[in-house]
Amino acid sequence: MMAVKQIFELGLKLGMEADPRGKKIIDRYLGRQQKEYDDLKPSDKKYFDKDRLTNPYPDCAIHVDNGKKNVKRVLAGIDITAAEILLASQLNERGQAIDLVISHHPVGKALMNLQDVMELTADVYEQEGVPVHVAEKIMEERRKEVGRGVHPLNHFQAIDTAKILGINFMSTHTITDNMVDKFIRDILKKTKPEVIKEVISTLLSIPEYDYANHLGAGPRIVSGAPYHRVGRYMVEMTGGTNPSSKVYQQLSNYGISTIVAMHMKDDSMLKAGEHHMNVILSGHMSSDSLGMNLYLDELEKRGIEVVPCGGLIRVSRNKKK
Ligand SMILES: [Fe+2]
Repeated sequence: MMAVKQIFELGLKLGMEADPRGKKIIDRYLGRQQKEYDDLKPSDKKYFDKDRLTNPYPDCAIHVDNGKKNVKRVLAGIDITAAEILLASQLNERGQAIDLVISHHPVGKALMNLQDVMELTADVYEQEGVPVHVAEKIMEERRKEVGRGVHPLNHFQAIDTAKILGINFMSTHTITDNMVDKFIRDILKKTKPEVIKEVISTLLSIPEYDYANHLGAGPRIVSGAPYHRVGRYMVEMTGGTNPSSKVYQQLSNYGISTIVAMHMKDDSMLKAGEHHMNVILSGHMSSDSLGMNLYLDELEKRGIEVVPCGGLIRVSRNKKK
């Protein structure tokens, strides 16, 4: 029996286990949040989101929780808008009770906070050899840009609908992006591709990418060529959103030859190409689905039924009984 809060906390645990930075750096991050809170003036403390003291992924949050103790069925999607919340309500009326809706992409405060989770990448770049002052400066500019981008949006529209209809709702963004990141890191460690086209075949051995390929949204090489050597590579599936285009020059200088990402902005692709890198894009919805599926499988193992919607390519890796 799992309550909404337990489902979210399981997500946090899985997200932290898969985090490319490792536990020590996450703990350091949480410690910094505590210090920041402690140092605030009393008049500023009321604006501090205390979830941040235990949740290292501010783009993941519970938006509506009516205290449901026994979640039996969840509606899960990559994007949840007011339409999917209405869908949950319709399913409720048809006797297919939905106890919780889970979105991958953040809404509400989780969307407002997207820039904050991008801190993660500075640590990852440092691990790849980029000096931290360079990684931090480059990402700081990009984080501010993302912050300006999300600031004017209508963050709470879907949440307002969920509140009116009394539908439990949460977002698990970086949690499941960490999970797909680790999954791809692990499978590439196993298949050890020597040339780019072997990266593609590794990706196509994963059902979500195979399915997407049938729909014309499969993995593709946007810089480099199928016969190019892979060299040292970096998997770029987590960290909030696309990093700064300036980071590719640094990664190339510090010895990374190939990037395997979900999606990439055109200016980043051009910059990576300018610095002779290979770039493989695995695909956005398929990659987000893979991450969500790994999390949803854990819910399924605990007896929760999963109803996919909103762009989620649902593949269960649990053995059918
Ligand atoms: Fe995404």
